[in-house]
Amino acid sequence: MPEPTDAVAEPLCASADLAERGRAFVWDVVVWRQPARAFALRFDGRVVAYLNRCAHVPTEMDWQPGEFLDQDRRWILCSIHGAAYEPADGRCVGGPCGRGRLMAIATEERDGQVYWYPSRDVQPVPFDAPPPERFP
Ligand code: FES
Repeated sequence: MPEPTDAVAEPLCASADLAERGRAFVWDVVVWRQPARAFALRFDGRVVAYLNRCAHVPTEMDWQPGEFLDQDRRWILCSIHGAAYEPADGRCVGGPCGRGRLMAIATEERDGQVYWYPSRDVQPVPFDAPPPERFP
């Protein structure tokens, strides 16, 4: 899991919005100048966040918006071909993702608020960006 850098923390959601092994908070980001989505969820008390992009085929993984965990709430499961990922660190643990892993996004939780940290690869959507459908 990446550690926060000297990047400015971006507010994400209230801590209370992330129930243990519950629905994820999904938000828009820019990855390598392309629009994408990321998600954050709480697992074993800790907030983890990843790019919503499977390591098998670069597609979004949630089977319903914000629903990434399997029926037992143990693994992050890709809804397309069933790749399973360890929620704690994003590594593939089964299925067609091989030795791949999810792209982790650094988060921090303090004073009842969750923040994420942009990196060289994952940036916030510019304030004046067009809606994601038309984003170049
Ligand atoms: S696209 Fe995720 S397992 Fe194939």
